[in-house]
Amino acid sequence: MKEKISNLLETAINSINSAESIDVLNDLRVALLGKSGSVTGLLKGMKDVEPSERPKVGQMVNELRVKIETALNEKIAFIKEKDLEKRLLSEKIDITLPAKRKKVGALSPITLVKNELIDAFSGLGFEIFEGPEIELDEINFQKLNIPKDHPARDMQDTFYITENILLRTHTSPGQVRVMTSKNPPIKVMCPGRVYRSDDDATHSPIFHQIEGLVVDKNISLCDLKGSLEEILKRIFGDKIKTRLRPSYFPFTEPSVEIDVSCFECGGKGCKLCKGTGWIEVLGAGMVNRKVLENCGIDPDVYTGYAFGIGLERIAMLKYHVPDIRMYFDSDIRFIKQFK
Ligand code: PHE
Repeated sequence: MKEKISNLLETAINSINSAESIDVLNDLRVALLGKSGSVTGLLKGMKDVEPSERPKVGQMVNELRVKIETALNEKIAFIKEKDLEKRLLSEKIDITLPAKRKKVGALSPITLVKNELIDAFSGLGFEIFEGPEIELDEINFQKLNIPKDHPARDMQDTFYITENILLRTHTSPGQVRVMTSKNPPIKVMCPGRVYRSDDDATHSPIFHQIEGLVVDKNISLCDLKGSLEEILKRIFGDKIKTRLRPSYFPFTEPSVEIDVSCFECGGKGCKLCKGTGWIEVLGAGMVNRKVLENCGIDPDVYTGYAFGIGLERIAMLKYHVPDIRMYFDSDIRFIKQFK
């Protein structure tokens, strides 16, 4: 038995020493120490050993098990270390190689114009109000004096979510939300994203507006003209003149379109102003009595003006952007020009 033990130890150590992979060592572990392994097999032969010798032989078998176990673990650790060394040598990183350059963008011209307008209107005492982009038909249209099936709805091709819920087509629902939650005096601007089912060189299905609303006693069209002239000079330069042209919006009465004299040619006529000397920049008007009433404000006591500015259009004019889709292409060469 003793001889068997020392023979087994010798062959086991030899095989462990010559093993070259962790897989082989794992197989050896099973073959030696597993349930039907050779060391376990030795224990089965104990019944043939003299009873007086059994404790001693038992101890030897245990020692054998420990020695084999230790040898296996040491060899596995050795192979792992060798593998790591090999990997470290083969997976060298050349830290002198130049890194990939990260491209740095810039603020979108729309953001630039928005910031400029917010800055200018804040200076005149306008507060910011932001409404939701998913809006109720009632607030986007009905309260603004555009009933269901009214032909004025054709002016704004709408993305409906359900019959009564839609993507807001303009920032004017902001007017309703402010007037129904606050008493005059009101002086707010509502910047935000708006949506219309429209797509060509000058129309995008997503675009941006800033709405303005002033409601108080004795507000007149002169206040509208004066305030907007001030703002438009900030955007397009001191030399521009403004003019009001009659227009139509269901929520304002009277309604106007505001033009600025062409800041390119000074009004002589050029490509930008299409030879007219004037450029249309926004829609505005006196808040319709019906809208004030719809929002719980007495139109015999209060009057107000409102306007809506399209940011893409202003930025296109100001920075000579030929196609509205350029704003949304995320082309770094385009955006970098506005740094
Ligand atoms: N909401 C109008 C539009 O998007 C613009 C507008 C706002 C006109 C406020 C008048 C007053 O076309």
